Amino acid sequence: MKIIHSIKELKQSLQVERESGKKIGFVPTMGALHAGHLSLMRQSVKDNDVSVASIFVNPTQFNDKNDLATYPRTLEKDCELLEAVGCDYVFAPDESEMYPEPDTRIFELGRVAEVMEGAHRPGHFNGVAQIVSKLFEVVEPDKAYFGEKDFQQIAVIREMTRQLNLPVEIVPCPILREADGLAMSSRNVRLTNEQRQKAPLIARTLKESTTFVPGKSVEEVKEYVIRTINQDPVMRVEYYEIVDGKTLESIREWSETEEPVGCITVFCGEVRLIDNIKY
Ligand code: PAF
Repeated sequence: MKIIHSIKELKQSLQVERESGKKIGFVPTMGALHAGHLSLMRQSVKDNDVSVASIFVNPTQFNDKNDLATYPRTLEKDCELLEAVGCDYVFAPDESEMYPEPDTRIFELGRVAEVMEGAHRPGHFNGVAQIVSKLFEVVEPDKAYFGEKDFQQIAVIREMTRQLNLPVEIVPCPILREADGLAMSSRNVRLTNEQRQKAPLIARTLKESTTFVPGKSVEEVKEYVIRTINQDPVMRVEYYEIVDGKTLESIREWSETEEPVGCITVFCGEVRLIDNIKY
């Protein structure tokens, strides 16, 4: 496995691979890898001839300075893990490589970028679109892999690639969970022992709520989820929306969509956790 820090060198190496007819799979990450990321890389290794991971904590997608400062950075360990699952190239640029000058592009990504995370984290998806479009331009992957934990991010990246006509297939991959149900996330390491013990309440409540459908209304299910999680003093639900899985618009009736998805964000202490469930 090659670890590359410069855009020029990565482009040259991948050009050689492409010229010999190899298909390229790509897993963009911000590092602090867990089994969820590794499952994306395993899928890429299965589907493609060459697999590339990027590790870059992208400052333009953080709207909270403290979140950026405390985001875990574990490059050496990450590279060991990636090598063990068959990754061929790790691209680990520094900030000046990705942003030699400030990226002033504003993406108009429509409703999928405005609701939920878009409303609660202004600028976040614009930053995601900035970095992912740059990474796609550098790697030129045939397929790119994203975890469904960030359900809305996948819709936003699909829209960005559609608008820019980028010839990459976006491959969504299922959420990986800890044995107690907690969705795997790089932020989980920031939970205290007490918070870590309580955090599975989110996944447990979401799962339980699927058993109420279609007997209870959308509103009743939403209320149940929010009330149950907020009953724990360590937890605070920021939002819970049940949306159409394609448009991400909130639904009022189950019959409005064949793909209802519940998307939640919860503060567990200071740590912002997200999760989702298909109804
Ligand atoms: O999902 C993430 O880790 C990030 O948002 C991504 C896609 C790597 C862009 O920085």
